[in-house]
Amino acid sequence: MTEINVIVDGKQETGAVQDRTLLVHWLRDSLDKRGPKIGCDTGNCGACTVRWDGQLVKSCMVLAVQADGGTVETAASLSEEDGSLNRLQQCFKDHHALQCGYCTSGMLMTATDFLCSGEPVTEEATRRALKGNVCRCTGYHNIVRAIRAAAEETP
Ligand code: FES
Ligand code: FES
Repeated sequence: MTEINVIVDGKQETGAVQDRTLLVHWLRDSLDKRGPKIGCDTGNCGACTVRWDGQLVKSCMVLAVQADGGTVETAASLSEEDGSLNRLQQCFKDHHALQCGYCTSGMLMTATDFLCSGEPVTEEATRRALKGNVCRCTGYHNIVRAIRAAAEETP
């Protein structure tokens, strides 16, 4: 076992993990972070997407020990300080951009990264940004609409 220290969603977390423990498993099983989902365990579906040291990663592709000393943000970090939905989350709600919700956390993380990139939020660019995230309910149309609406409402 290896002791790791990681700032997760703004809070310092410490734990002993096996060297083979995946970051997504540590987040979910030890820290009870239920945003990142396990959809494929092979880096294909994006359900486990988080930000690690400012970079978007699929947390099933990262060992927990690799994150030692770093910073991880999950979708739980996106809401406002008072716990209310942020603009993107509200747009997902308003535009019916989730059905079962299994992909939603990963979609929100990817969309947040895309919106912060400065790239024009065209339909084509939005769909391209989401290429690593699978929605099994195939609700892509409304997801794209929600992301574009969030961009339009940005002050
Ligand atoms: S569970 Fe990580 S990409 Fe699918
Ligand atoms: S809303 Fe069900 S997988 Fe996307």
